[in-house]
Amino acid sequence: MQEKRGFWGSRVSFIMAVVGSAVGLGNVWRFPYICYENGGGAFLIPFVVAMLTAGIPLMILEFGLGHKMGLAAPMAFAEIRKKYEWLGWFAVLVGLMVMTYYGVIMGWCFRYLAYSINLQWGADPATFFNQDFLHLSSGIGDLGGIVWYILLGLFLCWACVFFCIIKGVDSVGKVVMLTVPVPVAILVIFIIRGVTLPGAVDGLAYYLTPDFSKLLEPKVWLAAYGQVFFSLSIGFGVMIAYASFLPRDSDITNNAVISSLSDAGISFMSGFAVFSALGYLAHTTGGSVSNVLNHGPGLAFVTFPTIINNLPFWASAFGLLFFMLLLTLGIDSAFSLVEAGVAGAIDKWKTPRVIVNGIVSFAAFIIGVIYTTNAGLYWLDIIDYYFTSYGLALVGILECIVLGYVYGTRRIREHVNKTSDFKIGIWWDICIKYITPAMLIWMFIQTARELISNPYSGYPAWAQCVGGWGLLIFMIVFAIVLSLFKSRDGKEI
Ligand code: PFF
Repeated sequence: MQEKRGFWGSRVSFIMAVVGSAVGLGNVWRFPYICYENGGGAFLIPFVVAMLTAGIPLMILEFGLGHKMGLAAPMAFAEIRKKYEWLGWFAVLVGLMVMTYYGVIMGWCFRYLAYSINLQWGADPATFFNQDFLHLSSGIGDLGGIVWYILLGLFLCWACVFFCIIKGVDSVGKVVMLTVPVPVAILVIFIIRGVTLPGAVDGLAYYLTPDFSKLLEPKVWLAAYGQVFFSLSIGFGVMIAYASFLPRDSDITNNAVISSLSDAGISFMSGFAVFSALGYLAHTTGGSVSNVLNHGPGLAFVTFPTIINNLPFWASAFGLLFFMLLLTLGIDSAFSLVEAGVAGAIDKWKTPRVIVNGIVSFAAFIIGVIYTTNAGLYWLDIIDYYFTSYGLALVGILECIVLGYVYGTRRIREHVNKTSDFKIGIWWDICIKYITPAMLIWMFIQTARELISNPYSGYPAWAQCVGGWGLLIFMIVFAIVLSLFKSRDGKEI
């Protein structure tokens, strides 16, 4: 039996799915912090420039490629030339590797949802998180044992992902109607709660006071481009796969602009929720906002529980809402990464969806077991660092070269313009051929230089290799191997 591809039920479900993938944990725990670190309100200038010169153009490029070929990343690249198929697989594998730890973070959220009921993290959420919850070991090489409830959480996450994509775009289109508006509504609740707390104004001043001198620092611009790539979920094959399910006459440019701006807007909004709460925490502890500033898992599992402890009323309700927020933010980003791989494999081998979905989900679940050990947080940290900086930059650079120079931007531009209201011009070719690759190459070199002078987070060399370079090289080899397998021919895909 061959698998039918199908199409999005409506334009809205496509846009919702794209926004669902783009809007994830990064909007809440990455953007506000990066904004604060890189000039506060002034950061919005490089951010908007990065959005216009790289984010939206790349989104149009990925949409255009997926839509033109009607295929997910691997076979879409194979259509350009067989020898580039591996690049599609590489993008998908990098995304799947990201998903292996995204799933664990969601697993933590399930558990913290239960903890919220009686604020079980107690008066010292930091000790609770590291010792009582993660049972963090002394170092990355000391795996210790598996923490069973984290494993259970991981399994639960994968079960959700499996069912969300069980019918491809049909089921995804329905799920995102819930998982996109719900976190936005919760964010609004948090903003209202946050800004009405004492100290909120100080927090917001921290977030937004512009420091225009920062605009002269190259690293600020680099941060803006990095954040835009990651936030829009570009470079993991997701947008190529999603656009491949668009009907022939769909508008590409408008969809790309709407989705990108929605993502940017939600990032900016999140900053209000996060920094007003941080302002309140600084106010209650009598310190300054910089003392309580945090990002990543530390913000979600240590700082926020502390803030929730201090709320004047309904603390556990806000706890529940907060972890619901993270879960609903994360789930549609998570399954988009898996769908990119599943759709790619179905295109190539025409295997029934449930089988591919089952194999991919199970394999990625097994890989994720490493993060459920006592050294899990270290592995998560190192793999996140390498894959979202190098992995993403590498795919982006190669994508711009293959599509910009080998295939030619003109062909994609003409295709996009055929069905889009707003016509893109030569400026778009310039963004794809020069500006975006230049920024990505710069990002790549800069991170490499930093790493050479100062190994990431002081992890030992063997761990940097296993969790970083070695794993990335393995992914490239694996991608090449996948591309060498024979595909199953057949018209109906
Ligand atoms: N865009 C997501 C975020 O900002 O949290 C992260 C992400 C999800 C990146 C899915 C890539 C992806 F394919």
